[in-house]
Amino acid sequence: MKQRFQCFPILLLLSAQVLAKRPTIVPVGQGTTSLATTPPVPIATTTPSYQGLIKGANSTKPSAIPTPTPSGNTTLPKCTGHNATRAAAVKEAYQYAWNAYVEYAWGYDELQPLSKTGTNDWYGWGVTVVDGLDTAIIMELHDVVSKMLGWIQSVDFTTTPDGAVEIFDITIRYLGGLLSSYDLLKSGQFRNDYPADQIEALLTQAKTLADKLAYGFRTPSGMAAVDVDFSTNTPVEGTYTASNGVTYNSTNTASAGSFLIEWYRLAALTGNSTYRSLVDTGEYYLVHPSPAPTYPGLVGTQFDTTAGGMLNFAGGWHSEVDSFLEYLIKIYHYKADSITEEYANFWLSAANSTAAHITVHPYGFDDLTFLSGLDDNGALTYAMDDYSCFAGGNFLLGCKVLGIESLCDLGIAAADGCHQTYNTTVTGLGPLYWAWYDSATNTYPPDPTVDIDNGYRRNGAANGEFIVNGDEVYASFPESLESWFYAHRITGDPRWAEYGWDMFLSINETARNSVAFATVNNVGMSWGESQGDSLDSFFFAEVLKYMYLMFADPSTVDLGQWVFNTECHPVQVQCKA
Ligand SMILES: *[C@@H]1O[C@H](CO)[C@@H](O)[C@H](O)[C@H]1NC(C)=O
Ligand SMILES: *[C@@H]1O[C@H](CO)[C@@H](O)[C@H](O)[C@H]1NC(C)=O
Ligand SMILES: *[C@@H]1O[C@H](CO)[C@@H](O)[C@H](O)[C@H]1NC(C)=O
Ligand SMILES: *[C@@H]1O[C@H](CO)[C@@H](O)[C@H](O)[C@H]1NC(C)=O
Ligand SMILES: *[C@@H]1O[C@H](CO)[C@@H](O)[C@H](O)[C@H]1NC(C)=O
Ligand SMILES: *[C@@H]1O[C@H](CO)[C@@H](O)[C@H](O)[C@H]1NC(C)=O
Ligand SMILES: *[C@@H]1O[C@H](CO)[C@@H](O)[C@H](O)[C@H]1NC(C)=O
Ligand SMILES: *[C@@H]1O[C@H](CO)[C@@H](O)[C@H](O)[C@H]1NC(C)=O
Repeated sequence: MKQRFQCFPILLLLSAQVLAKRPTIVPVGQGTTSLATTPPVPIATTTPSYQGLIKGANSTKPSAIPTPTPSGNTTLPKCTGHNATRAAAVKEAYQYAWNAYVEYAWGYDELQPLSKTGTNDWYGWGVTVVDGLDTAIIMELHDVVSKMLGWIQSVDFTTTPDGAVEIFDITIRYLGGLLSSYDLLKSGQFRNDYPADQIEALLTQAKTLADKLAYGFRTPSGMAAVDVDFSTNTPVEGTYTASNGVTYNSTNTASAGSFLIEWYRLAALTGNSTYRSLVDTGEYYLVHPSPAPTYPGLVGTQFDTTAGGMLNFAGGWHSEVDSFLEYLIKIYHYKADSITEEYANFWLSAANSTAAHITVHPYGFDDLTFLSGLDDNGALTYAMDDYSCFAGGNFLLGCKVLGIESLCDLGIAAADGCHQTYNTTVTGLGPLYWAWYDSATNTYPPDPTVDIDNGYRRNGAANGEFIVNGDEVYASFPESLESWFYAHRITGDPRWAEYGWDMFLSINETARNSVAFATVNNVGMSWGESQGDSLDSFFFAEVLKYMYLMFADPSTVDLGQWVFNTECHPVQVQCKA
């Protein structure tokens, strides 16, 4: 991490040039300021359930997070708890799942591990191969990598039988996977005796795919539409009806805001700065939200792709916002310049608002911390989804990148909160969605008239949270593990690696079957009740990679030199390239 800051003088010289190339920004406009929903009055400073951040800490508000300085202590402590036996067990799991994919679903996007067939749910380009490649490179699974590289070279990324192409997932899974594999192989840190043309194909295929996706940014605002039609090369708009009754062409915030890492990297590797300016244009609206969110930085889940306005106040770190916030600090780690510094400051205002307004404790559990979501009007939901569990790791990374120690406390509290949802089920796996009773009023949500379910109350009293009916599934979620990985690397505390190992054993017991691994239908029942017929590509890309890196030598994919996209694909930070 320390070396990263050697880049600053060089990058500051570049920033004037970057600024000059910045596209003209269309003002955020008409139609958005007339939203019927006016920003709600902040519950703000008197949020009754707020009791401080650090596990076991006294009930005081955190002091405001200071302005970032690049002079923080970025030295990582010596990390203990890695273990070659455990790393080998994770590698075995990868090979087990991969062999099943090859046997039953080769060339399809994903394996269906119960019906033993393949399915094309991601445009038929073999997403398991592209998403899983960099993990195999890191594990140095030579035969697997060889087979994958041969496949990728042959894919035609310009056509699909499957209709409009979703820009967000294609960016994080395919573009991220291609660029990360290219960077890892070129880094000299991993075995690389593969054909040179196959390695170059990773970059040319990324370029081919991005040139098609780029048509999806041709909206009036320049913000990417949800989808792009590969036969007509035109954006395909999503829509959202705001509380004023008006239907807008729209996209969700995470979709519109999770392009920076992949497209900046592609711009750097190809020398074509258009890839970067495309994504900076769309990002502008997200970091200048209009109307203003309830709390600074905590933008809602939908934006209007015509005029750029924000369409609701449902902020937080949850699904449909999550990786937008995640990328703001990561892109500053990737490359510091005047634009990414603005992104980092926006991220800091979101972290600051999080600490002050949505970091809450459940009733009777003063040492347990959750990050509440906000509803469409900006009120606390007292509920949280698994996707939000990446946030702990993101605060910890920001703590080191910016040198702001209070962010580490916030990150550890958030990572521990997510561990509670794993540690209190019979399977040892966490659910999709949970909620809790408010610490001050002992109600959920803080309205006595809906506080009627005894099962919820019993579980809330025992565990501090309860699983919301219908959301008991474990579908290869990597986010809690991701935060424990950052916590392990950044604090050096081996307990995080123990949590990771417990999770591995739970997956191996509950999600593994005689074919491969599957999803688990109910984490609260013995053996997960039953399995579901999916093996998502992110099981290979994220779950097994974070797990492996936790137990491998900590210099393997060093956090100072690599930055992970939201699909766990690491690319080299700019100053090292
Ligand atoms: C918490 O802080 C308050 C005010 O500083 C103090 O009076 C109280 O004793 C502290 N409680 C604990 C448990 O430390
Ligand atoms: C920086 O942090 C590391 C790891 O936490 C610690 O060992 C070291 O003493 C710190 N250095 C300074 C100057 O605070
Ligand atoms: C490594 O992990 C294995 C499996 O959990 C365990 O038996 C062994 O004690 C661990 N080794 C060390 C040095 O912690
Ligand atoms: C740079 O990328 C953009 C977006 O795909 C493309 O339109 C343009 O032709 C590329 N420029 C060059 C010189 O390849
Ligand atoms: C929404 O997009 C469609 C094309 O998909 C376009 O016909 C329509 O005019 C757009 N609406 C607004 C309000 O921009
Ligand atoms: C953090 O919040 C405090 C209190 O609301 C405020 O004074 C401070 O300016 C904020 N800092 C940032 C970077 O947003
Ligand atoms: C909860 O965590 C503790 C400490 O890591 C561990 O010993 C225990 O087995 C865990 N329980 C479950 C159900 O995962
Ligand atoms: C994972 O499960 C398989 C199959 O049951 C078993 O052979 C293997 O030992 C398990 N791995 C660990 C580390 O327990």
